[in-house]
Amino acid sequence: MIGNLSLFPLTAEVNSQGHLVIGGCDSAELAAEFGTPLYIFDEFSLSSKCAEFKTEFGGRYPGTGVIYAAKAFMNTALARLFNEEGLGLDVVSAGELHIAREAGFPLDRVYFHGNNKSVEELKLALEWRVGRIVVDNLPELSMLDGLAGERGAKPDILLRLSPGVDPHTHRYIATGVIDSKFGFPMLGAEEAVARAISAANLNLVGLHFHIGSLIHEVAPYELAIERVLDLAGEMKKRHGFELKELDIGGGFAIQYTRDMPAPSVSTYAEAITARVIGKCRELGLAPPRLTIEPGRAVVGQAGVALYRVGVIKEIPGVRRYVSVDGGMGDNIRPALYGARYEAVVANKMNEKETGEVTIAGKFCESGDILIRDISLPPLVTGDIIAIPGSGAYCLPMASNYNASLRPAVIMVREGKGRLIRRRETFADLTRCDLV
Ligand code: LLP
Repeated sequence: MIGNLSLFPLTAEVNSQGHLVIGGCDSAELAAEFGTPLYIFDEFSLSSKCAEFKTEFGGRYPGTGVIYAAKAFMNTALARLFNEEGLGLDVVSAGELHIAREAGFPLDRVYFHGNNKSVEELKLALEWRVGRIVVDNLPELSMLDGLAGERGAKPDILLRLSPGVDPHTHRYIATGVIDSKFGFPMLGAEEAVARAISAANLNLVGLHFHIGSLIHEVAPYELAIERVLDLAGEMKKRHGFELKELDIGGGFAIQYTRDMPAPSVSTYAEAITARVIGKCRELGLAPPRLTIEPGRAVVGQAGVALYRVGVIKEIPGVRRYVSVDGGMGDNIRPALYGARYEAVVANKMNEKETGEVTIAGKFCESGDILIRDISLPPLVTGDIIAIPGSGAYCLPMASNYNASLRPAVIMVREGKGRLIRRRETFADLTRCDLV
């Protein structure tokens, strides 16, 4: 093999036929049974990650709240699993809130984010009594105050700050820099805190920041914590503000490729909790409740995408294109961010890599390339390509481009695979059409 199983779910192994096995299920058999493209989630890996976040952060900073960022991927089965694991949920739309509610997720453990929440969304958040509304800007602050007043409610809110920290990630997923559509810039933070404190119908419990995604360093978190706690100290002196909760967002990286390792959860936990504790001590602040919002790091490695090889085209001296039956419709990340992935041939795990190929999708765009120049064993039509690290931000960003059908999703555990989302059908494509 060859492929690096450490990028795959924790239960990944190779069986006697040389097939990739996940959660005790032979991936080639799964592909035959459920069709391709197919997204597989390993339940053991999901639960283990939830536990890892809880113990690594909670062990160092008791009571740390782990709020899963649903945008990384959520459906009913996953919402139920995260509920059983005792996590909270970060939602950014009425749609995500709806899925959580339908799944029976306790809404008092839900944090509602968004830079442009609509009146309808805020009304729903109040009516359904979500745990926290993370207020992003002044118009939202006054709108929410008014809506809460009309309903005799007093929601717990956090203020989202943009601490002006560069997380050294792709600019499309850097959010905490000064020039960002998200959150209050530090210069406007005092006004936001003062207004929130004096708002009759809002209960300001704390501050939030999220500086970006796929952050490979701990220093940006440390710097943001310093800045936001400095501000909290000032606000205490000037406005009597008590910081009860500090939410440091998500952004923890995972390893997608062999050449780009990611820090462990414990590395992030150690740096973040130490800085919160140290800084609070320095400023004489009572340590707030700590909240983290991992998305990618919870689901990313638990998910594997399976594709079937179709046409193989050799352009002599130039490139060998191996086209698969999915692509940018189910994973836009390579086209959008230049994201890089590894792959293995799931039905040829024990065969030697013989040459470089480019794995192309089937969509009508030259940019629909999943992986450029990867060494794989000899391929023939019908082989199964497995891409690790596909659990986060692939399915939720999937589209029906070229009227493609969004893939089926299965959860595997101890040798059993169960469908947790059926593949779309042609009927789904015209379901919303009116004549
Ligand atoms: N909290 C907030 C407020 C966020 O905006 C996000 C992600 C998270 C938590 C979770 O971040 P994570 O732990 O997953 O990095 N589509 C992009 C990622 C966009 C992230 C958006 N916000 C990608 O495919 O890389």
